[in-house]
Amino acid sequence: MHATAVAHPNIALVKYWGKADEARNLPAVGSISITLDTLVTTTSVRFDRALPNDRFTLDGRPAPDQLPRVRSCLDLLRARLPGAPRAAVESTNSFPTAAGLASSASGFAALVVAADHALGTGLERAELAEQARRCSGSAARSLFGGFVELRLRPGSRCETGQILAAADWQLQVVIAVTSAEAKAIGSTAGMLHTERTSPYYGAWLATSEGDLAAARRAIEDRDFAALAAVAEHSCLKMHAVMLASRPGLLYWNGTTVECLRRLRELASHGVGVFFTVDAGPQVKAVCLPEAAGRVAEALAELPGVTEVLRCGLGEGARVVGE
Ligand code: PMV
Repeated sequence: MHATAVAHPNIALVKYWGKADEARNLPAVGSISITLDTLVTTTSVRFDRALPNDRFTLDGRPAPDQLPRVRSCLDLLRARLPGAPRAAVESTNSFPTAAGLASSASGFAALVVAADHALGTGLERAELAEQARRCSGSAARSLFGGFVELRLRPGSRCETGQILAAADWQLQVVIAVTSAEAKAIGSTAGMLHTERTSPYYGAWLATSEGDLAAARRAIEDRDFAALAAVAEHSCLKMHAVMLASRPGLLYWNGTTVECLRRLRELASHGVGVFFTVDAGPQVKAVCLPEAAGRVAEALAELPGVTEVLRCGLGEGARVVGE
């Protein structure tokens, strides 16, 4: 009853922000993302009758504040196998945790895949994505590689699947790390605050389907300029909704803004790059392959950028060991 799985973070190009149903962790909007390759979460799960309680270590240290979410994620799978024992879960990230690099996405994707294999529940990928989605909305997308969409379906259902495989359009991603600190306000608290207090929230919901359709079309056509336009719009619109909440949510620092300015300047000179930023201060630059080297150099030169990470597009979460 033991398994190890790996999963990669994904980065949303059309953002998810807001919940239709908090108890079921149902997103208020669909989203489209790319799954990365070089950043990895590795998670081992061992179900053991001798354990009195679930245990969780993150990067080698017990993480009691994360344990309740890990336990409820395990409980979703244990519900399918009554009498399944407690588990010891060990997870490691090859990148800064909880700083807007989507570690919860890769973390819960790896956890459900490892736990499913260890328990022998044998769920289909779409069902695994649904389990992961209940633990962290963006985690459903890390079950798949390449370009991925989470769609809202009638009857409060979600459906996650691949739009295009990683090999079919080999974009690169350059990440400028501007702070290694964990973010002050987690995404769930931030979303609820935005829903309750931002006067722009209605406009955010109303324009989501149009953005999803434009991004889906751009990906199917491999139209980088069209994807750049809709992705930057979705990112800035999400931050505008957050900023307009009361008190306003500001996830950026000064270096974040300098990175965005530099990327816009490069793009205006014909470099194939666009940006996106999640609920944290790191900047993700999505590039055509020939532009990635120049973009990485330009971001590394900016004062305040502490690290530059480079990735391609990668595969969905998978089992790597028994
Ligand atoms: O899945 P969560 O609860 O960590 O929320 C993800 C929110 C964003 O990263 C800001 C956007 C997204 O779609 O990934």
